[in-house]
Amino acid sequence: MTVPSLTLSDSTTIPQFGLGVWQVPAQDAERVVGEALEIGYRHVDTAQMYGNEAGVGAALKSSGLARDDFYVTTKLNNGLHRLDDAKRSLRESLDRLGLDNVDLFLIHWPLPTRYDGDFVSTWQALVELQDEGLTTSIGVSNFQPAHLDRIVAETGVVPVVNQVEVHPYFGNEETRAATRRHGALVEGWSPLGQGGGELTDPVITAIASELGKSPAQVVLRWHLDRGDIVFPKSTHRERLQENFEVFDFALTSEQVAAISALDKGEAGRTGAHPDTMDWIPGA
Ligand SMILES: NC(=O)c1ccc[n+]([C@@H]2O[C@H](COP(=O)([O-])OP(=O)(O)OC[C@H]3O[C@@H](n4cnc5c(N)ncnc54)[C@H](OP(=O)(O)O)[C@@H]3O)[C@@H](O)[C@H]2O)c1
Repeated sequence: MTVPSLTLSDSTTIPQFGLGVWQVPAQDAERVVGEALEIGYRHVDTAQMYGNEAGVGAALKSSGLARDDFYVTTKLNNGLHRLDDAKRSLRESLDRLGLDNVDLFLIHWPLPTRYDGDFVSTWQALVELQDEGLTTSIGVSNFQPAHLDRIVAETGVVPVVNQVEVHPYFGNEETRAATRRHGALVEGWSPLGQGGGELTDPVITAIASELGKSPAQVVLRWHLDRGDIVFPKSTHRERLQENFEVFDFALTSEQVAAISALDKGEAGRTGAHPDTMDWIPGA
């Protein structure tokens, strides 16, 4: 299985597919990431908030893979948006990961109702961290179109990705379009809808039986065929394997359109709304 690479606006490349480790318990992270690397995954999406960066780092180290052969993203925790905190926190993440730099560092949430509504200086902190070489690329997560417009207008620096909730019941089309308009790529989080209703939806199960694939494989293929980056999470080796086997088939444009038509708009959103999300861990 060959995972395609996509070129980001800063001319670096990112594997279009990887492993997400939200809700992978710290004590399981080394095993899960290690199994994924054995299967062939080369891209891991973690976050300071997930509490499992050390396990991710341990798995990368014991894999023996060269630094250039894997791609790691981490994300700034919500309580650390001020310049000094943001800068210190990436150094601490690198210690936990056992790396000199990450490939991609993201602002996890814009938190427009916190920090006097100032997420622009947080973005500026990421620009400085990139200048210092602690992260190769910088991006954002959960940014609505207005948030993107503002950081680009006020800093002139475009994020390489916007990582936002996307799955068949929540297409998030307006934000996907705004992200692409800025020249950034979309990373779709909860690509399987967290293993919920989409995987038993009759439209998806019918396409899956036509193609001899599982519903999860069809949903992942839908994301890839739309050009988005995905990193489904599983703690089970057989599902890690199943999710990885999506590079030997494609959907027809009619199948892509039929799955896109399942979009329920706001009713399909499962996570917090970025305009009102204000949670700070431990606060
Ligand atoms: N930036 C953000 O704010 C944000 C928010 C949410 C997620 N994310 C990122 O996106 C990643 C993926 O999203 P997610 O973890 O929310 O959800 P997801 O990948 O859509 O779904 C994960 C769920 O689906 C199950 N599953 C996995 N493969 C399956 C398969 N082949 N068949 C049936 N069920 C399957 C998993 O169960 P088992 O583990 O038991 O197999 C788990 O319960 C996260 O890990 C994280 O890296 C980012």
